[in-house]
Amino acid sequence: MTYNNILSEFNNGITTITINRPKKLNALNKETIQELHEAFKAADVDKNTKVVIVTGSGEKAFVAGADISEFADFDVENGGKLAAKGQELLFDFVENLSTPVIAAVNGFALGGGLELAMACHFRVASDNAKMGLPETSLGVIPGYGGTQRLPQLIGKGRAMELVMTAGMIDAQTAHNYGLVNHVTTVDELLPLAEKIAGKIMRNSSVAISKAIKAVNANYKDGVDGFGVEIEEFGNCFGTADFKEGTTAFLEKRKADFPGE
Ligand code: COA
Repeated sequence: MTYNNILSEFNNGITTITINRPKKLNALNKETIQELHEAFKAADVDKNTKVVIVTGSGEKAFVAGADISEFADFDVENGGKLAAKGQELLFDFVENLSTPVIAAVNGFALGGGLELAMACHFRVASDNAKMGLPETSLGVIPGYGGTQRLPQLIGKGRAMELVMTAGMIDAQTAHNYGLVNHVTTVDELLPLAEKIAGKIMRNSSVAISKAIKAVNANYKDGVDGFGVEIEEFGNCFGTADFKEGTTAFLEKRKADFPGE
């Protein structure tokens, strides 16, 4: 499949999705959000894809936010629709994907860019990365889940400060806050994400998808996370992966998971 604003490449069990509007610092316009939706969906149904890595093209940005030129003249109704549609197509979609998604944050991750990184299952960053939610400097608030996911990841006080000041934090501060799991050089960023992906791929993709569902359940209103964990734990016992994993352990060999 060819896209206008993104690249999607498969290699060794990993689909790497690159947001490719470097001249606009990879800002998320409507078309890019739709294409990202299609690419994540395609990767999720592709049984050969065990991990998705998302990154930005060029040397400056992961994503410098939602495309401001597209919504500058919106009214109340259209503003609300923009946030709802974006959350449905991309941000909630990525968070709930059954395939693990790693954000490789390679520069500015601002506004919708940080929100996209936060919707991913975890993040690694290059040492030149800068992260923030500058929306209040534009007279608006984060609309792609930022007010919810940032406090989940770094705590309410730090999130409040970042949102209110519209400031940016560097990669090291993001690491100290627990917003990104690892920081490395620009050149080592994708190799690091791929190395972690390699570790993930050794494990049962079926169990991992159930773990994603159970962990996410903790953050959903009205959902009993412990209940989801119990149910999914039980469901694992009906899978071929569980049979293979436990048999391989008892036979003192490496598991070769069928992914079922
Ligand atoms: N939406 C639309 N266009 C954007 C954009 C965004 N969020 N972020 C950057 N761009 C565009 C710029 O308009 C510029 O386009 P042009 O060359 O056609 O004028 C191009 O990308 C390069 O950006 P520029 O501002 O010249 O780069 P810089 O290095 O001077 O500054 C930033 C980098 C990230 C600090 C700056 O681009 C910025 O503040 N962007 C907006 C961030 C933001 O508020 N995001 C939240 C949106 S809700």
